Amino acid sequence: MSVELFGNPDRAAVEEITTVTCIGAGTIGGGWAAYFLARGFRVKVWDPAPDADEKLTRLIEAAWPALAELDMVPGADKSNWSLHTDLAEAVADTGFVQESAPENLELKQALLAGIDAVCPEHVIIGSSTSGYSMTEMATETSHPERFVVGHPFNPPYLIPLVEVVGGQATADEAVDWAAEFYSHIGKSVIRMDQEVPGFIANRLQEAQWREALHMIDQGEATVEQIDRSITDGPGLRWPFQGPMLTFHLAGGEGGMAHMLDHFGPSLKSPWTRLEAPELTQNLRDSVVAGCDIASGTRKIAELVAQRDAGIIALRKLTASLTSDQESAPVPSASVPTGEQTSAEPTAESTVLQTYTTEVSPEWIDYNGHMSEAYYVLVFGFATDQVMDQLGLDEQYRSSVGASLYTVESHIRYLDEVALGSRLHVTPMLVAAGDKKLHLAYEMHVDDRLVATEEIVCLHVDQHEQRATDFPAGVRTRIAGFRTHTPEWSGRRLG
Ligand SMILES: NC(=O)c1ccc[n+]([C@@H]2O[C@H](COP(=O)([O-])OP(=O)(O)OC[C@H]3O[C@@H](n4cnc5c(N)ncnc54)[C@H](O)[C@@H]3O)[C@@H](O)[C@H]2O)c1
Repeated sequence: MSVELFGNPDRAAVEEITTVTCIGAGTIGGGWAAYFLARGFRVKVWDPAPDADEKLTRLIEAAWPALAELDMVPGADKSNWSLHTDLAEAVADTGFVQESAPENLELKQALLAGIDAVCPEHVIIGSSTSGYSMTEMATETSHPERFVVGHPFNPPYLIPLVEVVGGQATADEAVDWAAEFYSHIGKSVIRMDQEVPGFIANRLQEAQWREALHMIDQGEATVEQIDRSITDGPGLRWPFQGPMLTFHLAGGEGGMAHMLDHFGPSLKSPWTRLEAPELTQNLRDSVVAGCDIASGTRKIAELVAQRDAGIIALRKLTASLTSDQESAPVPSASVPTGEQTSAEPTAESTVLQTYTTEVSPEWIDYNGHMSEAYYVLVFGFATDQVMDQLGLDEQYRSSVGASLYTVESHIRYLDEVALGSRLHVTPMLVAAGDKKLHLAYEMHVDDRLVATEEIVCLHVDQHEQRATDFPAGVRTRIAGFRTHTPEWSGRRLG
């Protein structure tokens, strides 16, 4: 049961927060720091490890390209962080604290009390704990009402889910604020009303993990077989439909009702062992040896890069499938009718995605650098990606017969681009009208700004050959994106 408390009058609205603090900068705290940086925050980090600086630098460097693919806001600065060994210094002027210290109850109790003692009272403090309840962690604090669990998943810079739940002494208002803050920064939030051991997702993961360990312990399956049973099996369905909808479909036309009636009796068959196996030295060694075989010659950094590339590809795919579903029911073959109302903007959709590509040999001119025509081409690809994100994708264009036409553009060529360079094009929505968009782009190679473009485009009904209003669903989506005018924008386009 949560305690109702008045909101703290000094507490800032979530969109006013510009500085956050990460307590602990290991796998999870460092991942949070990278994510906050990519979302444009100034990040203050506290970590007692002597090598915290180097480890965090390495982690941010490794995470940055992945963040550039999905969640980065224009102007994000990967060096906008400072490391502190003094807690009070780390939480001074902060708008939010994310604690990600080792999973040890006494340590967390003492640490949360220490943060509480020096952190301004209006600031909400979230913990990344994988399983402790806030009720047990906040026992030593003087202001337990502002402590919440904000449980992320590894890597927190790529996995959207955050489970948010308070302890018995947490104010509902604090849980609401935290849930709103995580949503505001692009996370997919599950706000839980009561504390459940392991929250939701870890509870499900743990059950599977226990069964896997049992099977290895009994010699019934190898590490490799267990991993492949998921990656080549049910794991392929889970990014799109969770375990419940998956079983709904397993019931055929009868859906979940048939599934339960048909397989209900077998639920009682002794398939699962539920109790965890004893973690003997032998079991530990078998699991570790199996993972070594499964990793082969791939080092951890390589496995991380492979995992990140996979998650990015999947997130892009699931986003595009969702946008297809949202833009599908357009009845007219000619004129957009404004029927597409299902496209509610999500927190994640408030920022246009960065387009990334590599310079190919045929783009290089006689001076040994990318020819100017290909700058235009790359900006064009970035516009295609913007159109997909706005719901003006291939399916929309073919079913509705309307598309975006660029009617004016202005490019500044600022620096040369060499063969093999990786180009990152960040789009910004400058302004939007009923049938018109004003977009701006920055093209970067690493930290170098190499070109900018501004365009004005019109939404054109291709049958009638005239500009026409965006349908309601697309307008709703456009309204969900933040507008931003870059300081270099010198033209009054359109
Ligand atoms: N690793 C995961 O997959 C995962 C997923 C979700 C949540 N979590 C949770 O996140 C938290 C951090 O886990 P992690 O995997 O990043 O651990 P980690 O060991 O990688 O990092 C912990 C960091 O905390 C620092 N630290 C902060 N306060 C400390 C103190 N008082 N004493 C010693 N070290 C201190 C350490 O120096 C280290 O850099 C835990 O609560 C964990 O349960 C972990």
